[in-house]
Amino acid sequence: MSESNHTGPLRAEELVVLVDHRERRYLVQLTPGKRYHTHNGYIDLDDVVGLEEGSWLVTSGGNRILALRPLLSDIVLEMPRSGQVVYPKDLGAILIYGDIFPGASVVEAGLGSGALTMTLMRAVGERGRVVSYEVRQQTAEKTLGNVHLSMPNIDNLTIRMADVYEGVQEREVDRIVLDVPEPWRVAPSALEALVPGGLFLAFLPTALQVHELVNALRNTGRFRLVETQEVLTRSWHVTRSSLRPDHRMVAHTGFLVRARKTSARPHVDLDSERDESLPEAEFLRPAHSQQEVNKWTEP
Ligand SMILES: C[S@@+](CC[C@H](N)C(=O)[O-])C[C@H]1O[C@@H](n2cnc3c(N)ncnc32)[C@H](O)[C@@H]1O
Repeated sequence: MSESNHTGPLRAEELVVLVDHRERRYLVQLTPGKRYHTHNGYIDLDDVVGLEEGSWLVTSGGNRILALRPLLSDIVLEMPRSGQVVYPKDLGAILIYGDIFPGASVVEAGLGSGALTMTLMRAVGERGRVVSYEVRQQTAEKTLGNVHLSMPNIDNLTIRMADVYEGVQEREVDRIVLDVPEPWRVAPSALEALVPGGLFLAFLPTALQVHELVNALRNTGRFRLVETQEVLTRSWHVTRSSLRPDHRMVAHTGFLVRARKTSARPHVDLDSERDESLPEAEFLRPAHSQQEVNKWTEP
């Protein structure tokens, strides 16, 4: 994932974003000999190769077209998708909230369209590694093609065709980032996989899933500092004569739940250390044993 991919004149075979006169964006690969057809004429993609980013072209029909390297958010929003992607507003938050750092070892599930994978790859850099679990072969093949198109030189991404609920196979993992329907099923094996102090993060669309996950994390007795966030952003319409929020916004997408792996807590008798954040007995599912209930409720 060399930084040089992001500089210099536009090269044959790389991805560009073409922006039309209405600021509509089109993600296009600069395939030699091909034409790109717009609503008003075409451009020869060979004419784009060798231009500096930010150059203008004119279509055969007389419309202006701007050529740029795509931002990661352009790729995420414009690439062909196999299912729901994580939106840029959440991707940014995941990097900070999930404390993804250069050189980190990250396990992710599921791969999906690869939006989160590409974001993680960028953040861990060349010294880090990402292992992404996926159960659908077709999804994995298509997504891997997309990822390599925008990040041609990476060799530190592994796609693991496996059900993450059956266990995380990696060890000494710094961060586990999940976008699967039942992340609580990963909590026990995440404890095996994570380094001491490692971070578990899940992206969840519904509050019911959040509740299930938070209870499960706390019930392990080893995940602490369990926190939940939701990210809302609102774009604005700014012109000479108007300054207001846009009428439409991407409102709810999902919640972020994170927790840190700790060692087992020592037993103390002090009342002052009784933990208000632990779930009350009535929040525990009936399936929990009386022993587990006692663990949280006994003084
Ligand atoms: C919502 S999509 C992930 C989207 C992805 N985060 C992105 O940004 O494009 C969920 C993906 O998880 C996969 N998946 C679901 N359950 C899984 C499991 N138990 N193990 C591995 N992958 C799973 C699905 O096949 C699907 O591709």
